[in-house]
Amino acid sequence: MATKISAAASGQFTIGGDLTVNRLGFGAMRVTGAGVWGDPADPAGAKATLKRVHELGINFIDTADSYGPEVSENLIHEVLHPYKGTVIATKGGLTRQGPGEWYPVGRGPYLLQCVRMSLRRLGIDRIDLWQLHRIDPETSREEQFEAIAQMRADGYIRHVGLSEVTVADIQEAQRYFPVVTVQNQYNLVDRKSEAVLDYCEAHGIGFIPWYPLAAGELAKPGSVLDVIAKRLGATPSQVALAWTLQRSPVMLPIPGTSRVDHLEENVAATNLTLSDDEFAELDRAAKALT
Ligand SMILES: NC(=O)c1ccc[n+]([C@@H]2O[C@H](COP(=O)([O-])OP(=O)(O)OC[C@H]3O[C@@H](n4cnc5c(N)ncnc54)[C@H](OP(=O)(O)O)[C@@H]3O)[C@@H](O)[C@H]2O)c1
Repeated sequence: MATKISAAASGQFTIGGDLTVNRLGFGAMRVTGAGVWGDPADPAGAKATLKRVHELGINFIDTADSYGPEVSENLIHEVLHPYKGTVIATKGGLTRQGPGEWYPVGRGPYLLQCVRMSLRRLGIDRIDLWQLHRIDPETSREEQFEAIAQMRADGYIRHVGLSEVTVADIQEAQRYFPVVTVQNQYNLVDRKSEAVLDYCEAHGIGFIPWYPLAAGELAKPGSVLDVIAKRLGATPSQVALAWTLQRSPVMLPIPGTSRVDHLEENVAATNLTLSDDEFAELDRAAKALT
């Protein structure tokens, strides 16, 4: 009989003091077309993946208005509404000009439009976790952060997260509203956000690593990751994910896929436990590459 797999095995984290989720989440950027533009190549497969996300105990889904744009939020609504306790974390503040093209716009009225349109697409009255996708360098921070604080006060947003920020950015935003999550690129071999992760851990802020499966050089045959994966009867991706989860109790990885088999493989990684030696061995090997 197949072992039962559930995201609950990844442990739990409470976002903003009142939203408890299983730590392994799902990134819904990949249920769109090439270049995160338009409909997915296999819409039925994308819908089946979202349905399986729920069945596998994942109750934390990351998306954005710009994924598609609109496609990811619309699919989530179609397949998962009314969500039954699943936290849908969306983002706004990035505009789209075509496949693979993204441009930040942080003007107050535009951020309000992002949020109000996400509410409509998701079919809800309040967004549990809304993240500023990027701080717009061409708009004053005061305008961006005040607009977000106002949307929180007006009840459109329950909690606020930031994406691709430094510790100084977080501290500046915290003068306007509590920052409950930070979403930065991070994985075994991409460690430039270590200081941000440490800050988040020290302050009980959820850290959402995007691109968590990018094992890069380490995934090659014969690499430490490959050797440990074979020893554990797992795939290199699963070991990279297990390492990420073990790195910090505030870590909320959101691996993305449009395929049910990859989703199941990623959730099964929550059953892996790396020994202290294996964790340290991977850490050393990854740091030696950077
Ligand atoms: N804040 C930001 O600026 C930002 C930027 C990028 C992404 N994100 C968020 O982070 C999430 C994750 O990022 P990501 O999608 O770039 O990176 P990722 O989750 O590390 O990698 C996804 C890629 O790996 C493949 N994959 C997934 N599971 C696999 C498995 N078990 N074995 C082999 N390949 C597998 C997927 O392809 P298949 O579809 O073929 O499985 C996809 O190409 C996104 O969905 C999005 O929600 C945020």
